[in-house]
Amino acid sequence: MKQATDVFNDWAHRGKDEGMERGHGPAVREMLSAAYKRVLSNNESFSFADLGCGNGWVVRLASEHEQCRHADGFDGAEHMIEKANAFDSENGYYLAMFPDAKPSMQYNLIHSMEFIYYLHKPKKMLQSIHDEWLAEDGWAVIGIDHYAEHEESLSWPEALDVHMSTFSEKEWIEMWHEVGFSEVHAWRANQTHGKPGTLAILGKKAAQ
Ligand SMILES: C[S@@+](CC[C@H](N)C(=O)[O-])C[C@H]1O[C@@H](n2cnc3c(N)ncnc32)[C@H](O)[C@@H]1O
Repeated sequence: MKQATDVFNDWAHRGKDEGMERGHGPAVREMLSAAYKRVLSNNESFSFADLGCGNGWVVRLASEHEQCRHADGFDGAEHMIEKANAFDSENGYYLAMFPDAKPSMQYNLIHSMEFIYYLHKPKKMLQSIHDEWLAEDGWAVIGIDHYAEHEESLSWPEALDVHMSTFSEKEWIEMWHEVGFSEVHAWRANQTHGKPGTLAILGKKAAQ
């Protein structure tokens, strides 16, 4: 099987990152809106990071929020990061391979869309987000389109020749609790035209 980062590096060369931006946009806007409400209930401003950021479009979107004081994006596909840096010199974009990459600061809000299931051990990533990437009282929001209840998505690993870790909605939610998140909330974002929608999950890192 191919490495996901090699596939998406190629997608960036072919301009397919822009299609993801269009396709993921409605669910991501819904996820960010739910997360902002929670983060801003305790903070006057927030720092933001997007993991598996692709060309960085969500970093630019979040940085436009008037209470966002710092926004960074991380991705393992070199050309995605090159594109992000070419579009935007204000925010930070970094080449990073997960789950091993470590942050140099902790963030109030971590976002991730259509990334975590490419990992062989997504729970390890979720643990790292909780323990290493989030500041105390910080929130994470993650969007997943490949999950057991989304039948059409089960053919994607073979079609793309890329590993995807497949879990049910219930298993994903349990994983959030197991790594220590509190106030976990899950819903289907952008559930339109009879489609199953994006499994969106958010949760809080409680003060230790
Ligand atoms: C489906 S794309 C989503 C990109 C972006 N979040 C969006 O919604 O447009 C998945 C992204 O995750 C990145 N990725 C996959 N596995 C990775 C890994 N192990 N480490 C770092 N990035 C990875 C890919 O390079 C790709 O840019």
